[in-house]
Amino acid sequence: MPALGMGTWRMGERVALREREVAALRLGMSLGLDLIDTAEMYGDGGAEAIVADAIAGRREQVFLVSKVYPHNAGRREAVAACTRSLKRLRTGYLDLYLLHWRGDVPLAQTVAAFEALRADGRIRHWGVSNFDAADMRELLGIDGGQHCAANQVLYHLGSRGIEWDLLPLCRAKGIALMAYSPVDQGRLLRHRGLVALAARLGGTPAEIALAWLLAQPGVSVIPKASDPAHVRYIRAAADLKLAPSVHAELATLFPPPKASVPLAML
Ligand SMILES: NC(=O)c1ccc[n+]([C@@H]2O[C@H](COP(=O)([O-])OP(=O)(O)OC[C@H]3O[C@@H](n4cnc5c(N)ncnc54)[C@H](OP(=O)(O)O)[C@@H]3O)[C@@H](O)[C@H]2O)c1
Repeated sequence: MPALGMGTWRMGERVALREREVAALRLGMSLGLDLIDTAEMYGDGGAEAIVADAIAGRREQVFLVSKVYPHNAGRREAVAACTRSLKRLRTGYLDLYLLHWRGDVPLAQTVAAFEALRADGRIRHWGVSNFDAADMRELLGIDGGQHCAANQVLYHLGSRGIEWDLLPLCRAKGIALMAYSPVDQGRLLRHRGLVALAARLGGTPAEIALAWLLAQPGVSVIPKASDPAHVRYIRAAADLKLAPSVHAELATLFPPPKASVPLAML
């Protein structure tokens, strides 16, 4: 899985923004941001339609991720939901299909659906999202659960709770950790200490926040941007190597957890 890609939450909600959103994704792909994260939930399918336009003619270039609603995650329902997503995305397969968050459907049913989709080639890998360490242990105990390839969770400088237990667990099991809302939906970029550090280093807060995440082993990062300037900053983060002294300063500004904390989510 590429380490850096693009999110699509809030895309596909307004017709007037459609062209701008497709153009942002296309710009990102032309710059080498080859992972696109979407979901049946986003824009009620509208984001998947935006992604379809963006990847038209370049499907093989992109690692495509979508997600199933928990209430659609039953053995038959998840297969039907995936089929609908593929139709909206105008593609024959997903690279990764995630359970968006845990609901009432027994995990074994969802795993069975994902394994069936994987067997017939409609998805290449499957995973979960918003699963804490206990959820992951339960999943790994289910028949087929060991095939979980990724867990997508909230992770950014200002929210580091997963470093206590979930991130080490995922690393130990070879499960990719996908960091969502990596700039805290823009809020992190107004943090005074981060703004001052970025000014001193001659970069932007977004580049530093994303470069810090990219330096965490086993983590991939999916910021969302519809502004072309933001897309370029996201790409620039991939080339930024933060010095050990900068990592130390960031650890002071944004301390790691000292105890187990409940999984943060949006
Ligand atoms: N699995 C889940 O439950 C879950 C939950 C949340 C998110 N996600 C996924 O993760 C993706 C990213 O998370 P997110 O969209 O919540 O938040 P985010 O990526 O942390 O922040 C997106 C916001 O930051 C702005 N932004 C991006 N780069 C910027 C820059 N360089 N300078 C200033 N502002 C910048 C964007 O503005 P513009 O759009 O105007 O450029 C947008 O408003 C989502 O799109 C979605 O695909 C998954």
